[in-house]
Amino acid sequence: MGHHGVPRRHCHTFGAGWGPQRLVVSETQDWQRRLPLTRHQSRGDLDLRMNQSAFRFIDLFAGVGGFHHALSAPEFGGKCVLACDIDDSCREVYAATWPSMPKKAIHGDIRDFTLNEDGSDRSPTELDRLIPDHDVLCAGFPCQPFSKSGAQKGVLDSTRGTLFFDIVKIIQAKQPRFLLLENVRNLAGPRHQGTWVTIVQTLRELGYRVSGEPVVFSPHFLPRELGGRPQSRDRVFILATRVEAGAPLEQDPLIRRGPVGGWNPNQWSVEDWLLDDSEIENIDTYRLRDDEVAWLDAWQHFIQGIPADDLPGFPIWVDAFTNKPNIDDDTPAWKADFLRKNSNFYRQNRTFIRSWLRKSWIPGRGYKVADFPASRRKFEWQARLAQPKAVNRDLWQLAIHFRPSGIRVKPATYLPALVAITQTSVIGARRRRITPVEAGRLQGLPDSVFPNAGVDDSTAYKQAGNGVNVGTVQFVAAHLFASAGAPWGSSIIETTCAAGSTNVIPFDETEQDEEDAA
Ligand SMILES: C[S@@+](CC[C@H](N)C(=O)[O-])C[C@H]1O[C@@H](n2cnc3c(N)ncnc32)[C@H](O)[C@@H]1O
Repeated sequence: MGHHGVPRRHCHTFGAGWGPQRLVVSETQDWQRRLPLTRHQSRGDLDLRMNQSAFRFIDLFAGVGGFHHALSAPEFGGKCVLACDIDDSCREVYAATWPSMPKKAIHGDIRDFTLNEDGSDRSPTELDRLIPDHDVLCAGFPCQPFSKSGAQKGVLDSTRGTLFFDIVKIIQAKQPRFLLLENVRNLAGPRHQGTWVTIVQTLRELGYRVSGEPVVFSPHFLPRELGGRPQSRDRVFILATRVEAGAPLEQDPLIRRGPVGGWNPNQWSVEDWLLDDSEIENIDTYRLRDDEVAWLDAWQHFIQGIPADDLPGFPIWVDAFTNKPNIDDDTPAWKADFLRKNSNFYRQNRTFIRSWLRKSWIPGRGYKVADFPASRRKFEWQARLAQPKAVNRDLWQLAIHFRPSGIRVKPATYLPALVAITQTSVIGARRRRITPVEAGRLQGLPDSVFPNAGVDDSTAYKQAGNGVNVGTVQFVAAHLFASAGAPWGSSIIETTCAAGSTNVIPFDETEQDEEDAA
């Protein structure tokens, strides 16, 4: 490996004394010699397009166009020739973002392509006619486990009925040079082992070189100049290249999960990415409600009143503040453990906790902790490293999440993954939620995307939460293209390599949120 996250061989390909101009020309020629053309391309076609450093891509399950933003950026120069998303409002946002894209190139259900009206499979010849030629197929497809693993059923058949199968049919018909697929991290996790293996086998069966080991990456690992954003969002990327028959189909993962180029993710500050409050229309919509302020005031008083520097790392449960833990034979072991720990903690801090429980948190309303909703009587402190001393503890300086499992606070360095089911992050210092525009920023989207389309806030949060992070796509795409000698995005590789070969950064993830797999 070169520096963390970037296999060294890419640095050699692009970094060792090659000026960008020379790189584009020579690598292009080399690439043209080595890779087969699709049936639709003439050598002249390719020459023309390559000399302009342009390529064509399609955006399946396009959402609000994370892939499109990434690959149409000047560093890549790609042109989107087809997008599809079944969701009407996603298509509205897409059309508003790229008004020059013909409306007829923005489609709905992918199955309008892959199935005939009677539900039978569309033939590859027909599909080939319906879908424009392209070099790169992008798809952030919904995660659906396959019923049987490929080994048991034959890989293509085992994916039948899933949306991955529809992608496969398009790949078969069009044979694009590169595939860039994205999914939640769980897809490559232990519970979906069969699904993951089947995907890899299927793509190899179609003649694509792809790593059997998943590439997992997150925007908070990238420094700002490489498109990083303060959001921890681990996603699996499937990066595949069509190769000549007989060429090896296995490859090492093109990217390793971890910070890149000497970057330490704990240096992020979400504050740098927020709008000025005076610029936000309807700011009151994002401000905390009285009851939310009351919950946080209560917990702020709590963390200041506990004298020990070390606050518990386990979830604090007010309902478990009893002298003896309420454990019976039916209590699961994990719960018994929390009950015991909370009871011990209560006994150690009983005098303070009892006075805290007697306090009211909304003047004139007598709103005591016992009156809070059950999930607000639970609290998780994930800021032990950032605020190690009792004297400085201040949750109003942290990022706050109102989760069904309790209130969770963590340093406002980088935020946990935006998710489609909204638990919008609260910025303590601003006493408000992040806005849809700010959520878009965490995904690398331009500020104009949601306002231009005029979608309501809950739709915008959902769309941002479903999206793929733009900088992350650019980073992985540049590595995919570089691995086959294609020059698109080479400036990203050069910037990465220019950051130099550094040691792996010890990165403490103890304060990192667990992924909320969408
Ligand atoms: C994980 S999101 C992809 C988001 C996208 N990569 C982005 O950056 O916004 C999956 C998308 O697939 C769409 N979808 C689900 N089923 C579909 C289908 N049958 N045909 C087309 N799109 C579909 C959903 O509406 C959703 O927007």
